Amino acid sequence: MTMPTSLCPNRMQIHSIIQETSDVWTINLINHDFYMYSPGQYALVSIKNSDEVMRAYTLSSSPGQSRFISITVRRLENGIGSNWLTRTVKEGDYLWLSEAQGEFTCANVTCQQYLMLAAGCGVTPIMSMTRWLMVNRPQANVKVLFNVRDDKQVIFAQEWQHLASLYPDRLQLCVMAETPDYGDIAQGRLTEEKLKALVPDIRSRVVMTCGPVPYMKNVQQYVANLGVPAAHFFMERFSTEPEAVESENILTLKIRQRLLNFNVPVGTTLLAALEQNKQPVIAACRAGVCGSCKTKILSGNYTTTSTMTLTEAEIAEGYVLACSCQLHSDTEIA
Ligand code: FES
Repeated sequence: MTMPTSLCPNRMQIHSIIQETSDVWTINLINHDFYMYSPGQYALVSIKNSDEVMRAYTLSSSPGQSRFISITVRRLENGIGSNWLTRTVKEGDYLWLSEAQGEFTCANVTCQQYLMLAAGCGVTPIMSMTRWLMVNRPQANVKVLFNVRDDKQVIFAQEWQHLASLYPDRLQLCVMAETPDYGDIAQGRLTEEKLKALVPDIRSRVVMTCGPVPYMKNVQQYVANLGVPAAHFFMERFSTEPEAVESENILTLKIRQRLLNFNVPVGTTLLAALEQNKQPVIAACRAGVCGSCKTKILSGNYTTTSTMTLTEAEIAEGYVLACSCQLHSDTEIA
C-alpha cells in the first residue's frame, strides 16, 4: 500500500473500534514503528487514504502508557472525515497518520497544580494529559471539570471512574451535565461564578481547556477575570468543525484556473468559501497551524489571523492559509 501523501507517512492498522457515546468512537491503532508524541497532541489523518482530504484528530492515548495509538472521533452530520472513520473503516484496515503536532500539551509545563476544563469531544486531549500526569508527575494534582449535554455523553466514562478511584488524593473529577439541571453548582453550563466556587484555588493552577470555540472563549474570559495569569492559560487551537459567517454583504470569489465564480458573504474565510462551494481544498487543522490549506491570492482585500507556516517571501507573493484568511472584497485566487 503506497503512502497517500507525504504529510501522512505513518501507516497504522486498526486493532479495534470502541463506541464511547451515541456519536463518538475511539479507534485503536497498532503502529509497528516507534511513534513519538506528547500527551494532548493531535495528528492529521488521510481520509479515504487519499492525498486530497486530511483531518486533524487528537491522539487520545498517552505516550508510554497506552497499548495503542488512539484517536477519538465525533461523527459530524456532514463530516467527510468523521463519517468515513466511524461508518466505513473496520478492524484490520490501515490508516495513514502525520507526525504528531500541536502545542497543546502538559509535557512542557512544570507546574504541579492543574485545572483541566473540557466540553464534549474536547475531553480527548484532557484524558490523554490527565492519564499521563497521574503516572509521570507523582506530585501533580489535577482537577477536571467536564461539561456534557447529559450523563450519556460522558466520553471515557469508565476510564474516568477508574482513574478517580486509583488516584483519589490527586485527581478530582466533576462531570457537569447540562440536563437535568436542578440548579446545583456542579450542574449545567459553566459560568464564572461556578468556576470560582468549584475551584477556589484557581490562581495557583495552570488551566488547560479544550472544547467548542465559544466554550473556550468563555473559559478564557472567566479565567482572566478570576486572576489567572495569561501565561498559565492554554487552549487547544484546532477545530474539526466548519464555521459559518452570516453577512448581508456578498463578494465574488473567482478561481482563475477553473474559470469559476462564486458569491460568498463578506467576512467568510477563504476555506469556508471553497468548501461551501464544493471546491477541493486540503484543510487539516483549520486553525492556521498545519499549513495544509496554503493558497495563492491574486487580488482582493483580506485579513489573516495566522501566517504561521508561511515564509516572508510567500506572504509577499500573496500566499495565505485559507482557514485563517477572511475575505473583505471581490477576490481572485490562482
Ligand atoms: S488547515 Fe491547517 S493551516 Fe489551514
